[in-house]
Amino acid sequence: YGQRFAKVFELYTAAQRLYQHILLNTTAGEEALKYLEEKRGLDQATIQKYGIGYVPEDNAFLHYVEEQNIDSKLRDESNLFLTNDSGQTRDRFARRVVWPIANAQGQVVGFSGRTLDPDNQIKYMNSPESSFFNKSQLLYHFDQAKSSIRTTKTAMILEGFMDVISANLAGEEIGVATMGTALTAYHVRQLARIAQKILLLYDGDEAGQKAAKRSIALINEEAPKVEIGIVVLPDDLDPDEMRLQRGLPALQKAMEQGVLTPTEFLVQAARTGRNLSNQAQYLDFLKEILPILKKAGPIEQETQLNRLTEEFGTSKEALKAQLAEVVLPKN
Ligand code: UTP
Ligand code: MN
Ligand code: MN
Ligand code: MN
Ligand code: MN
Repeated sequence: YGQRFAKVFELYTAAQRLYQHILLNTTAGEEALKYLEEKRGLDQATIQKYGIGYVPEDNAFLHYVEEQNIDSKLRDESNLFLTNDSGQTRDRFARRVVWPIANAQGQVVGFSGRTLDPDNQIKYMNSPESSFFNKSQLLYHFDQAKSSIRTTKTAMILEGFMDVISANLAGEEIGVATMGTALTAYHVRQLARIAQKILLLYDGDEAGQKAAKRSIALINEEAPKVEIGIVVLPDDLDPDEMRLQRGLPALQKAMEQGVLTPTEFLVQAARTGRNLSNQAQYLDFLKEILPILKKAGPIEQETQLNRLTEEFGTSKEALKAQLAEVVLPKN
């Protein structure tokens, strides 16, 4: 579709330049720049590297488009504007900090904008779905990360743009993020073409844990040869909050030393919300983890059974007898 949408993409490049200029060099961008520097801990070099901009409320880009006599069909196709019932048009991302979103080839195909207003219910807003802005196929920062992913044969998946940037500031260039949606088979296949290992670095909250479980299953299904590692962050923090609240070295340390195998992660996840000194809940916990251990290699199985024996006093013979009765579903 390169040819057909070349004009739209040209317009995106012009928009991105203007939005960034407004952010860095004008009074209209002061509030947003202050937010990014003080609240989000980004310096101007990082803002420039990621092409971050600000869309003011004065319809700056709409005026540009009018001055350039850009035809209305192209204007509509770009999805950069909103027209209300009374026919008034305005910049879609007004009063938002915007990140340009590039496809795998590095072509800007849309934007995502974060509101500056804490009480705005819509924190992030993306360009609408179209034939070239397809969230189930886009991975934020993949175009920039792919050479490091190739070299290290390792990719890292995070939840948000700021998380990718935080991992990057902590020294990892291999991070990509989904666009506020779940990981898809398409994403997994795209990463598995150049990576042998995929690290998941989701938010440390319950939603992040759920997403990790789902992604592990999907990666095992779509790319069974890919090795998986999971980094769990403490206290419900996301990587960006970790950097801001605990400092870059803490995030670095988590990424380097806190990688769990899927078995370790799934066993740990099965503990959450259960009181394991209660017999019924302990048996429930075993019911959840024994199929996981059955699929694990002999060494991990041994390690995990030893831990159960030490912590709960259940003999290894009993655990092994129970394990022998587990029947894995044939897929
Ligand atoms: P969240 O809404 O959980 O982000 O969405 P957050 O961490 O609380 O946001 P910040 O740190 O305060 O800014 C997770 C991520 O998913 C992406 C964004 O990158 C967001 O950070 N997202 C979310 C989208 O791309 N589109 C959406 O509509 C929503
Ligand atoms: Mn959130
Ligand atoms: Mn989250
Ligand atoms: Mn988050
Ligand atoms: Mn965040």
